[in-house]
Amino acid sequence: MPWLHDKLVHAPRAPRVDLTGKTVLVTGTTAGSLGDATARTLADWGADVVTTTRSGGSHPLDLTSGESVRAFVDWFTGNHDRLDVLVNNAGVHLDLAGSWKEPHLTADGHEIHWRTNYLGTMQLTHLLLPALLRTAEVTGEARIVNVVSKLHTRGRNEHMFNPAPTYSSWNAYGQSKLAMVHATHELQDHHRAAGVRSYALHPGSVYTGIATKGLEEKKLLSAVRRRLAPIERLFLLTADEGAQTTLMCATEPDLEGGRYFAACKVTPGSNEAEDRDTAGRLWKETLELVPRL
Ligand SMILES: NC(=O)c1ccc[n+]([C@@H]2O[C@H](COP(=O)([O-])OP(=O)(O)OC[C@H]3O[C@@H](n4cnc5c(N)ncnc54)[C@H](OP(=O)(O)O)[C@@H]3O)[C@@H](O)[C@H]2O)c1
Repeated sequence: MPWLHDKLVHAPRAPRVDLTGKTVLVTGTTAGSLGDATARTLADWGADVVTTTRSGGSHPLDLTSGESVRAFVDWFTGNHDRLDVLVNNAGVHLDLAGSWKEPHLTADGHEIHWRTNYLGTMQLTHLLLPALLRTAEVTGEARIVNVVSKLHTRGRNEHMFNPAPTYSSWNAYGQSKLAMVHATHELQDHHRAAGVRSYALHPGSVYTGIATKGLEEKKLLSAVRRRLAPIERLFLLTADEGAQTTLMCATEPDLEGGRYFAACKVTPGSNEAEDRDTAGRLWKETLELVPRL
């Protein structure tokens, strides 16, 4: 019932921009995902698009492995002489049922959302910054687009450097996304003068594989959700609709960076996201940590 879906969801579209000659990297482009929809449109608009997944047809990149991130960047910089736009889209939101009592840790001992959505993404970004800066020097502009979430509102600055006393996977997801909003502000402040603009955005509530993965451990809930999928699809954006704010941030000419977007518009982020002291400390500590990942 596409007509009912169109009545129920608000889905503004990003205007088409000619991207001929530009190189764009989109992380997390598994079939049916936001990254997949984003990459397809960017390619349709003329960009040379490089895509990543953990396993599959595109270039392998696992953000929870420092080695994988370094290997990917070596491959990318050895094969591409420019990077106009980095779209940090890959991410996880696990344990949607909220049943984890303890954090699930990666092989190197970090909470899984923090490691994937923040640390791995920041490692990738810092390693690719020279390519972005070189491109901006030649063309006048490069961009970093961070796909975060309105759930960054669940993040708390007081827990940025000391974990919350009680674990909640939803809060951990929010914390990782709040950290990415802070990082967006810092990236903008540090690199805007050199021509690199940074954006953070909420894509909307979108029907992708994220909920399937998030409910993987809950067989009954997953089965119910599969039965109700046609109803869920009515209310949620499609991946193509959800990709529009990313596309706008990646391509709209003269779009000022350092801001948070939703539904293709600048939107206020959480109050916590305005705390520049936390952003500054996080930036400094992240810069120290990245070479050790
Ligand atoms: N869908 C929504 O309603 C919604 C709302 C707000 C924000 N977001 C954000 O939008 C982004 C895209 O989500 P989506 O809905 O398209 O989810 P998705 O369909 O699950 O896609 C996420 C992508 O990230 C990749 N990924 C996961 N863990 C990774 C890792 N360790 N290293 C590298 N890549 C990894 C996934 O690869 P695999 O296939 O290998 O797992 C997949 O390609 C995420 O950052 C998410 O937090 C989504």
